[in-house]
Amino acid sequence: MLTLTSSTQQVLEGLDDHRPASLRVLLIDDDHLCSAQVRRLLQQDRLEVESRVTAEAGLEAARQAAPDVILLDLELPSMTGFEALQLLRSDARCSHVAVVVISARDDARTRAAAFAAGADCFLAKPLSQDEVRAAVLSLGGRGRLLRDREEAASVLDALARILDLRVPGSRAHMQRAAQLARRFGEWLEFSPEDCLALERAGWLHDVGKIALPASILNKPGPLDAAEVRIMRRHPVLGERICARLRTLGPVLPVIRHHHEHWDGSGYPDRLAGEQVPLITRAFQVVDVFDALVSKRSYKESMPASRALEILEAEARRGLWDPSLVADFCAATRAGELDTHR
Ligand SMILES: [Fe+2]
Ligand SMILES: [Fe+2]
Repeated sequence: MLTLTSSTQQVLEGLDDHRPASLRVLLIDDDHLCSAQVRRLLQQDRLEVESRVTAEAGLEAARQAAPDVILLDLELPSMTGFEALQLLRSDARCSHVAVVVISARDDARTRAAAFAAGADCFLAKPLSQDEVRAAVLSLGGRGRLLRDREEAASVLDALARILDLRVPGSRAHMQRAAQLARRFGEWLEFSPEDCLALERAGWLHDVGKIALPASILNKPGPLDAAEVRIMRRHPVLGERICARLRTLGPVLPVIRHHHEHWDGSGYPDRLAGEQVPLITRAFQVVDVFDALVSKRSYKESMPASRALEILEAEARRGLWDPSLVADFCAATRAGELDTHR
């Protein structure tokens, strides 16, 4: 019997175990009393707090494991906070980290110098608990969000490359589907978030196939019943792979449901009609169209006009949302989707 490889199972189980990590804060201050106060305060919010008492030790800690936020005292032994800040900003390993400067000197000149050296925020001692919490949570949360987006983009690219290696030629389809899905979403006047989700769906809808055996993925002939069952796991596997990245949340329904049918005969959940999310139904039309017009190892390409006729016939048979198919065909025949780009 065909099953997923054991290493694939382990990877997927690891993904299920994932929990979003708490924000990590590095405190660089030689004032033990102040450090203890900040540590107590931030640990109430379940933040991970590490502290160092010299700039040198703080810089080393920041380079080793870039935290989300650094709280940096200006008055440190052997090196000023300004110098430490400049070193932080010039080191690629930690130049992106949010820095909150803390100082007993609270005058306009010191504040201006701190911002000029690269501080994101300035707090005067004695510290206000509310200010420290607000600064750390907002700067740390924002930085995390930006890094999540960057991570999502690079993970997305890596997954597409892996899938292209396992199913040669799939990258071109993913790219065309991504571009056309976005244009169709814009034509339908979907929100910018939905248009972005449609574009990402183009790259990710079949990503679950990377967990399937190569013997099935590239089998030249038709699949037998057991192989079809395995192949049909790819939407759920794809959803599990991408669920780890919070920024991919809006794409998950497309990944899971892109093989459902309007009449409820699809998989994995046998959803019918409008139970299939709207952006998924819009994506399906694009995905099928591109598959029809593209040349594959087992079939020749076909003209767009013929592909539209097939889409319309499949909509009449109950596979796709008939009104979205009508929209897509009308827009394509009017040249408004630029399907040859
Ligand atoms: Fe698929
Ligand atoms: Fe596809």
